[in-house]
Amino acid sequence: MTSHNEPWGENVLVEFDDGIAWVTMNRPEKRNAMNPALNEEMLRVVNALATDDRCGVFVLTGAGESFAAGMDLKEYFRVTDGAPDTVLLSVRRIAEEWQWRRLRDYPKPTIAMVNGWCFGGAFTPMVACDLAIAAQDAVFGLSEINWGILPAGNVTKATIETIGYRNALYYTMTGETFDGRKAAAMGLVNEAVPLERLRDRTRELARTLLGKNQAVLRGAKLAMKRVKYMDWEVSADYLYAKLGEALHLGAAENRGKAMKAFLDDKTFRPGVEHFQDTK
Ligand code: COA
Repeated sequence: MTSHNEPWGENVLVEFDDGIAWVTMNRPEKRNAMNPALNEEMLRVVNALATDDRCGVFVLTGAGESFAAGMDLKEYFRVTDGAPDTVLLSVRRIAEEWQWRRLRDYPKPTIAMVNGWCFGGAFTPMVACDLAIAAQDAVFGLSEINWGILPAGNVTKATIETIGYRNALYYTMTGETFDGRKAAAMGLVNEAVPLERLRDRTRELARTLLGKNQAVLRGAKLAMKRVKYMDWEVSADYLYAKLGEALHLGAAENRGKAMKAFLDDKTFRPGVEHFQDTK
């Protein structure tokens, strides 16, 4: 594994590891609470890695015992209280730009690796990632109700998109915490594993994704996010258009090879193995 000293600052670490970019929120002494400085750096990182060949899969995680303790209550909220609305809007815009606008439509597969505390504002980038794996004992909470704020920053949106109406209301209204196992049971994360297995399992999943045709993967994941808001007729047309786009962008060769392997050569059956094609 190699570390790069790119000019994006001390609040975000980036390590490249054979196609995987491990992107770490790095304010462990503040439990990786997201302040404006971290948000600015993270936006630069997200932008840079979108077109960086060293990043095939983007993994978002946190330094130390925390994924992220939400927005920084002092620097994101209290310091900006009473600031002109232009300042407030600018600070918010930088946060939302990386936390969901860019990440949700990211051109690479993204995985949130939830290693510990995950509160409030941290739900947004965690849910904006395509997939999420948590440590079984990671602690999640929508603590906003305790702070006299409601879960803005699209936290409410992220929550209702993942854990269902009753669960979303329950945890939003009570502020009670839950662990990684419960997060997996509710569909907030894909799975929960013991902390000591977390990095290996995440790497294994990332490697599976790296073995797929990236044009198809990109089309498939973006389509999933779009069709949710379409009716069946529009969705059907859109999906064929996206399929055509993926074939045009390089998936045709992959499709030909996989079909030949299955139909002619009888060397591949998707029910029992993966078809690996990195083109
Ligand atoms: N904003 C600003 N600072 C935060 C923070 C946040 N969201 N979360 C933690 N910190 C700071 C603490 O103020 C403390 O700073 P200090 O060392 O200068 O006193 C430091 O991080 C360590 O926090 P501490 O509470 O001592 O750590 P812990 O390991 O005992 O507990 C948490 C970790 C995450 C359970 C606890 O810090 C917490 O409940 N944080 C608030 C989380 C939250 O409600 N986030 C949603 C915001 S909308």
